[in-house]
Amino acid sequence: MLPANLYDNYYDPKGLDLWEKKVATYEAPADRKFQSILVPTLDTTRYSWLLNSLLAIKKPVMFCGDSGTAKTVTVFSAFRQLDSEKFIFLNVNFSSRTSSKSFQDIVEENIDKKTLKSYGPKAAGKKMVLFIDDLNMPVIDKYGTQAPNALLKFLVERNQLY
Ligand SMILES: Nc1ncnc2c1ncn2[C@@H]1O[C@H](COP(=O)(O)OP(=O)(O)OP(=O)(O)O)[C@@H](O)[C@H]1O
Ligand SMILES: [Mg+2]
Repeated sequence: MLPANLYDNYYDPKGLDLWEKKVATYEAPADRKFQSILVPTLDTTRYSWLLNSLLAIKKPVMFCGDSGTAKTVTVFSAFRQLDSEKFIFLNVNFSSRTSSKSFQDIVEENIDKKTLKSYGPKAAGKKMVLFIDDLNMPVIDKYGTQAPNALLKFLVERNQLY
């Protein structure tokens, strides 16, 4: 018997089942540090799954929500589950002082020329996942835009920079 709310269920080829059943039991972190505690919840499980599924097909993902709703911790916990042989992570924190130039510099510092027109991560054979935290922070300029986000939009839409 399924509950009324569709969002409580996940779909796999065998049918619908409750997300609740996928939530792992809590285990204390190995280093015993308070700041590395992550309690698996329905939301962290569900959103980690979505993130990993979308990354696998190279689709960009955006998490939005109020401050303190565990966006950052969910992303980091999902990254920890990914295969480090296949992926490397580039973590960028946007702030009010981030400019499109500084964002472009960070991206360019972390990639190498692979062929005439294509660039890739420095670690050969790996895919790079770019995680931008606090995307809303860059200052809004007099044209009403946030320059680093305009550059990011360009990068996501066209898959290129110049
Ligand atoms: N499932 C959880 N297990 C352990 N700690 C959690 C969990 N969910 C949230 N927290 C704690 O809540 C706090 C806020 O989480 P986080 O920093 O990820 O929020 P955020 O959505 O990124 O907020 P902001 O928009 O301000 O960046 C953190 O200190 C985090 O450790
Ligand atoms: Mg955050």
